[in-house]
Amino acid sequence: MSRRGAKAVESLSAAEAAVELAHLAAEIARHDQLYFNRAAPEISDFAYDALRQRLNAIEARFPTLVAADSPSRRVGAPPVADFGKVTHSRPMLSLDNAFEPADVHEFLARVRRFLGLAAEAPVALVGEPKIDGVSAVLRYEGGRLVVGATRGDGSLGEDVTANLRTIRDVPLALTQGAPSLLEVRGEVYMTRADFDALNAARDAAGEPRFVNPRNAAAGSLRQLDSRITASRRLHFFAYAWGETAAPLGASHWQALERLRALGFQVNPLARPLADVAAALAFYAEIQAARATLDYEIDGVVYKIDDLAWQERLGMVSRAPRWAIAHKFPAEQAETTLEAISIQVGRTGALTPVAELAPVHVGGAMVARATLHNEDEIARKDLRLGDRVIVQRAGDVIPQVVAVVPGARPKDSLPFVFPDRCPACGSRAVREEGEVIRRCTGGLICPAQAVERLRHFVGRDAFDVEGLGEKQIAAFWQDGLIRTPGDIFRLAGREAEIALREGWGEQSAANLVQAVAARRTITLERFIFALGIRQAGQATARLLARNYGSLAAWRSAMAEAGDPESPAYQELTAIESIGAKVAGEVVAFCAEPHNRAALDDLAGQVTVQDFVPSATTSKLAGRTVVITGTLTAMTRSEAKARAEALGAKVAGAVSARTDYLIAGADPGAKATRARELGVPVLDEAAWLELIGAR
Ligand code: IVH
Repeated sequence: MSRRGAKAVESLSAAEAAVELAHLAAEIARHDQLYFNRAAPEISDFAYDALRQRLNAIEARFPTLVAADSPSRRVGAPPVADFGKVTHSRPMLSLDNAFEPADVHEFLARVRRFLGLAAEAPVALVGEPKIDGVSAVLRYEGGRLVVGATRGDGSLGEDVTANLRTIRDVPLALTQGAPSLLEVRGEVYMTRADFDALNAARDAAGEPRFVNPRNAAAGSLRQLDSRITASRRLHFFAYAWGETAAPLGASHWQALERLRALGFQVNPLARPLADVAAALAFYAEIQAARATLDYEIDGVVYKIDDLAWQERLGMVSRAPRWAIAHKFPAEQAETTLEAISIQVGRTGALTPVAELAPVHVGGAMVARATLHNEDEIARKDLRLGDRVIVQRAGDVIPQVVAVVPGARPKDSLPFVFPDRCPACGSRAVREEGEVIRRCTGGLICPAQAVERLRHFVGRDAFDVEGLGEKQIAAFWQDGLIRTPGDIFRLAGREAEIALREGWGEQSAANLVQAVAARRTITLERFIFALGIRQAGQATARLLARNYGSLAAWRSAMAEAGDPESPAYQELTAIESIGAKVAGEVVAFCAEPHNRAALDDLAGQVTVQDFVPSATTSKLAGRTVVITGTLTAMTRSEAKARAEALGAKVAGAVSARTDYLIAGADPGAKATRARELGVPVLDEAAWLELIGAR
C-alpha cells in the first residue's frame, strides 16, 4: 500500500482513520515479519519509518482508535505502580543439568527405562542453544497478544505485558491460522553489543553498570516504565509452549517450525539430533561457535523430539523428564572478596590484587584476580566481604567483573588505597595524569629490589638459569644478593648455597656455572637488564646502536642531565626516543644508587660493544634460522648477535634461508635445509662467522 496521495491526517474522518490504522498495523506487522523472520525486507528503512510515523500521527489525532496491539505500543507505555500477578496455566519448569557426556548417556538411559524401551532403541532429540537470559511467557487469544509474564517462582509470575510488547521479536498478532489459544514460552535476552552500549551509556551517566547481559535483560524486563524497556532493545527466542487450543505438531521439531511460521524467532542453531553421538557433536559445535554469537549461552538443551513421549515422561520436581541442559564449564562464577592485597612491581607500581574465596571458574580454581589499579576499585566500588563475579577467559588472568548487588555486608566501607608502600613503608605517590601509584623507596624497597633482580636475570636480560622469583626473594632476604653485582659474587659460595633449603651441591654448582656463563653480555641486553622504566628491549637496542659502548653511553647520559646540552639533543634525536623515555633514562643514570650499582657491575661483567658494521658483515641482509643446542651462547643470544650483524632470523627453513645455524641435535630443520641445499653451519663455523673465535 503506497502512502503517496494519502489524505492529510487532519482531513481524515474517524471511519477513514479506523480503516487506515488497521491497514497500517497489518502492513507494519508484515514488514516486521519480512525483516526479522526472513531477513528479506521489501521496503527501505525510510519507507518503514514513514509507515510508523503516519500511524502515530493518525493515532495522535484519534486516541480512541489506538488498538491494544497497535505497533505504536512497542515504544512503551507510562509507568505502572506495580506489576500484576499472573498464574501460569501450567508450571514454568526449570531444567536438570548435565556436565559430562556420561550425564547425557544417563539421561537417555533414564528416558528409555521410563518408556520401557530397549537399551539401544533409537530416541530422537532436538538440540537448542541454552540462552542466558530470562524466561517469559506470551499468551495469545484469537491470534493477539493478551498477556505476557515472567516466570516468577514457576507458578506465579509478574504481568510484564507492556514491556514484552516493546520487543520487536514478540509478535503482537500472529499470522493466519494460529490456534485460538496459544501460550508461547521462550527467553528474553540482550545482545552483547547492546549490553556493551548500555553499560557505556550508564558509565557516562554515572549510573551503575550491569554485571552481565542476563542481569541487564532481567532488569530491563522488570521496568515499571515500559518506555525504558523499549529503549533497551531486548530480543526473544521461542523454545516451548504452555496451553494451546490445538497441537503445534507431533514432534518438538515440528512445533518449533510451526512457531517460526507463526511469526516467532526460533534459534536458527536448533537442530534435530538422531542419537547421543549427534547430541555430543552438537554440543561441541555450539561450544566452538559460542564466542562468535552475539548473545550469551551457557550450554545446550536436549529435548526428546516425540511429543507423545514428552507427555508420558512428564515432570519430576519442577523439571521435565524429557529435557536436560548440557552446560558449558562456567567462565564466570560468584565468590567472596576476602581481601585486597597490594603488590609492588619492579618500577614501584602498586597493583591491587583480589584475594578470593577459592572458586571453580571455567575448569580452574581461582583464588586471586587482578584489580588493575585504584581507579578500577573505586569505579566498581569493591569492598571487603562483597560477593563478586569472577571471570576467566582462556588463559588470561582472572578478573573481577563486578559486585553482586544487594549482597553487601551492612557495615562495609569503601576501600581506601594505601598511600604508603606495603613492602617498605615509603610514601606511594600518584603523579598528575597517572593511573598508577608508585612507591618512592627505590632500591631500599625490598619488593622493587627483588623484582628488579628478577628482571635482571630474566630471559631477555642476563638469562641466568636457576634463579627464579622464589630463589631471589630468599637470597635477598638473607643478604646473599642485594645488588646485581652480588649475583656475580656468588662464585665461591657454593658450599653456603648448597646448605640452603631447596638446594644441594649439584644445584649450587649449576647456579654458579650458569652465572659464570653470563659474564659477557651484549650492550643492548645489558641496558635492558637494568630495568629502567620506559626502556624496554626496543629502546635498549636503539641506545646500544647509537652509543656503541657502555662507557660512551654512560658518559653521554651523564651529560644529558642538562636538557640544554648537545648530549640531550642527541638522545632525543634518536627515532622513537621522546622526552618521556629520555627523562627516565637520564634520571636513572643520575641516581647515585644506580651509578654505584653500575660501577660495581662494570667490574664484574664484560659488556660487548655494539657491532655497528651490520652492512659490511657477511650476515647483513641474510636470512638465518637457528636450531639445536649451542654451547657458547643461548639461542636467544645467538639470535640477538645475528640481528646485530644485520641478519633476519626466521623460525622455519625455506628456500629463502641463507644459512641454518645448527647446534647439537638439530632435528628436522637440518634435514629440511639439506633437502633445499641451504648451507648448514655448525657451532664452530657460526662462531667464526660472527668473529667470536
Ligand atoms: S526449555 C520445560 N530451552 O533455561 C522447558 N529453556 O535452566 C523448560 N533456557 O528456565 C525450558 N534456553 O529460562 C529451554 N532452549 C531452551 C532454553 C531454556 C534457555 C532457560 C530457561 C529455563 C532455564 C532452565
